[in-house]
Amino acid sequence: MEKMRMESINMTEKNIEKIGALFPNVITEAKDENGKLKKAINFALLKQILSDEVVDSNEAYEFSWVGKNASVIEAGKPIKKTLRPCKSESKEWDTTQNLYIEGDNLDVLKLLQESYLGNIKMIYIDPPYNTGRNLIYRNDFSQDVDTFLDESGLVSEEGRLVSNPRTYGRFHSAWSSMMYSRLMVARNLLAKDGVLVCAIDENEQAPLMMMLKEIFCEGNYEHVCVSVVHNPRGVQGINFSYTHEYAIFVYPSNGKMISDRQIKEEDVSWSQLRNWGGESERTDAKNCFYPVIVSEGSIVGFGDVCPDDFHPKQTEWNDKLAYVYPIDRSGVERKWRYARQSVESIKDMLRARPNDGGFEIEIGKQTGIQRTIWVDKRYDANEYGTKIVNSLVPNGGFTFPKSLWTVYDAVFAATSQCKDAIILDFFSGSATTAHAVMQLNSEDGGKRKFIMVQLPEKCEEESLSMYSNICEIGKERIRCAGEKIKADQGIKAIGLDVGFRVLKLDSTNMKDVYYAADQYSQGLLATLVSNIKEDRTDLDLLFGCLLEWGLPLSLPHTSEVIDEVEVHTINNGDLMACFSQNISETVVKEIAKRQPLRAVFRDNSFANSPEKINVEEIFKLMAPNTSVKVL
Ligand SMILES: C[S@@+](CC[C@H](N)C(=O)[O-])C[C@H]1O[C@@H](n2cnc3c(N)ncnc32)[C@H](O)[C@@H]1O
Repeated sequence: MEKMRMESINMTEKNIEKIGALFPNVITEAKDENGKLKKAINFALLKQILSDEVVDSNEAYEFSWVGKNASVIEAGKPIKKTLRPCKSESKEWDTTQNLYIEGDNLDVLKLLQESYLGNIKMIYIDPPYNTGRNLIYRNDFSQDVDTFLDESGLVSEEGRLVSNPRTYGRFHSAWSSMMYSRLMVARNLLAKDGVLVCAIDENEQAPLMMMLKEIFCEGNYEHVCVSVVHNPRGVQGINFSYTHEYAIFVYPSNGKMISDRQIKEEDVSWSQLRNWGGESERTDAKNCFYPVIVSEGSIVGFGDVCPDDFHPKQTEWNDKLAYVYPIDRSGVERKWRYARQSVESIKDMLRARPNDGGFEIEIGKQTGIQRTIWVDKRYDANEYGTKIVNSLVPNGGFTFPKSLWTVYDAVFAATSQCKDAIILDFFSGSATTAHAVMQLNSEDGGKRKFIMVQLPEKCEEESLSMYSNICEIGKERIRCAGEKIKADQGIKAIGLDVGFRVLKLDSTNMKDVYYAADQYSQGLLATLVSNIKEDRTDLDLLFGCLLEWGLPLSLPHTSEVIDEVEVHTINNGDLMACFSQNISETVVKEIAKRQPLRAVFRDNSFANSPEKINVEEIFKLMAPNTSVKVL
C-alpha cells in the first residue's frame, strides 16, 4: 500500500515535469548534492532549443550517462577474492575442460584476466534486458555498497541485488553502468580474432550498440545487429506486437569471421556453376574459362585462366586429377558464373557431381553468408527454450531461456573454423550456451570448451522452483543435457566432454595480516601463525595459485602422497604444490627432482628461515629453472 507523503510537494520535480512535457528530449538523469540520482534538465540542450544560433560549440560525438566514469573506475579496481573449487558438485572433474563458475560476473571476469587473457574465441551473453522487472546486480561506485543500498531503499532480500524499476530516475544509467564495466573487463579476455554476441531486446538495444561501438571501436570491429524472431506469436503491446529481439555480433573487421548456419545436405538446392542462356559463352568473359580441379570426387583447387587457343574436353584427366571446364553437353564452350579470383571464397559451396566419366560442377543455393534476420521455427524461445529446460530440469521454473538453436547457430557462426574454441557466457542463466556447445561438438566432432558464469540468484518464481538458486538449475541442466546428447548421438558422442568443474567466488584465501601495531593482541597473534584462512582446503589454495600464475583452471590435476604429505601436480609439471604444515626435505627434493615449471609451498611450512633458505638452495641446485614461491 502506498504511504502518505506527510510533506509538501517537491516544486522542482513538478517544474521539471512541466518542461519535460513541452520538450521531452531535455529530460535527463543527474546526481543531487547528496549523490542520489534524480530526473533533471539538460540546460545546454534546452538553451539550444530556445535559440536560433549554435549555443555550445564544445560538442563531441559521445554516449554518456550518470555513473559512466565511475563504471570505468569500477572495471579497473582490484579485488581481494578467489575462486574455490567444488569437486562434489562437478562432473567428470579429472577429465573435463569445461567450467561452471558461481558468483558476480564482474568479480569473476577480473579473476579470469590472467588465466584467459586474449584466449576466449567467443563470448555469448544474454544479460538482463532491463524490462523494469529484472533484478540487476549493482554497486553505487561512489559510495560504500551498503550505505548506497540502505539509502536507495531498493535492497532485495539477497542483500546486494537491487531491482531497477522504470520509475527509478536511474533506470537506464544503472543498466548502462552495470554493462559497461563488465564489457570493458570482458574485452581483455576476447582473442584477437574473437567474436562477441550479445542478445538484447528493444529496451536497451540502442545504448548497448553505442556502448559496444565505443568499447570495441569502430574501424577495428564490425557491429552487426541481427533480428531474431524468437516469439512468432508476438508479445502484445498497445500498438505493436513484438515478435523479435536482437543478437548483436561484434567481430574484427579483418576478414571472414562469421559462417552461415549449418544447413543439412538434403536442404541445399544445387545448380550448375556453368552459365547458360544469353551471354554465357567463353567469348563473353574470357577470365571465366579455367579448370576446376577435382581429386577423388572433391574440389581441390582451380587452374589458371586458359589461353584463347586452348580447347579442352569437358573433363580432362591427368593421372588421378580431373580438370573440369565449363563446356556443355553439346560441346559449346561456355563460362563459369564467377571469375577465377572470386571462386576461391565460395569453394565450400561447390561440389563435383560424377557424370559420364567426368564431373559436373554445381553450386549450392546456400549463400555461406549470415543473414541479418533469423526467421525459423527453431528460434522460438518457448518451443526450444522453455520447453527444453522444463523437460531437462522439471520444476526448475527458470523464466525466459533462449532457444537452444539460437545459441547453437550463434556458436556455430563464430567457431565453425575453430572447433577447439573456448566459449564464455557470463550471464549464463539456465546454461543454454553450455548445452549448445556440447550439442555442436557432438555433431561436428569439435572440442569446444565452455565457461559459464552465473550469480547464485534466488529463482524468480521461487515458490514454483525446486531449486534454491539459478546456479542449481544451470548445473542440473548441463548434467542432464550432456547425458541426453550422449544417448541420442550414440557412438558419435564417444569422447564428448559433458563434464564441468564447479568453482565458487569467495573472499581471498589469505588472512588480512595488515594490523596496526597497537591492534596486536595475544589472541590475534595466535591466529596469525598461519596467514591462510582456516577453512581453506589444499584445492582452494591450488586454484588460487592457478589464478595468480595465470594458468587455465581446466588443466589436469593429480595428487599423490610423498613422505606422508599430499603433493599436487598440474598438467604434468606446469605447477607442483604442497600445502602441508610440515614439509620434509625429502618432499622438497622429490619435487625439485621432477623440475616443474613452478613450485609453491605454504610460508609457514618451514619452521624457520634457514629451512626456507635450504629449499631455495635445493631448487637452485636441482631445478634452477623452476620458479618457486610461498603463500
Ligand atoms: C536473461 S538471463 C540469461 C538466460 C540464458 N541465456 C538462458 O538461456 O538460460 C540473464 C542471467 O544473468 C544473471 N545475472 C544477472 N546479473 C548477473 C551478474 N552480475 N553476475 C552473474 N550473473 C548475472 C541472471 O541471474 C540471469 O540468470
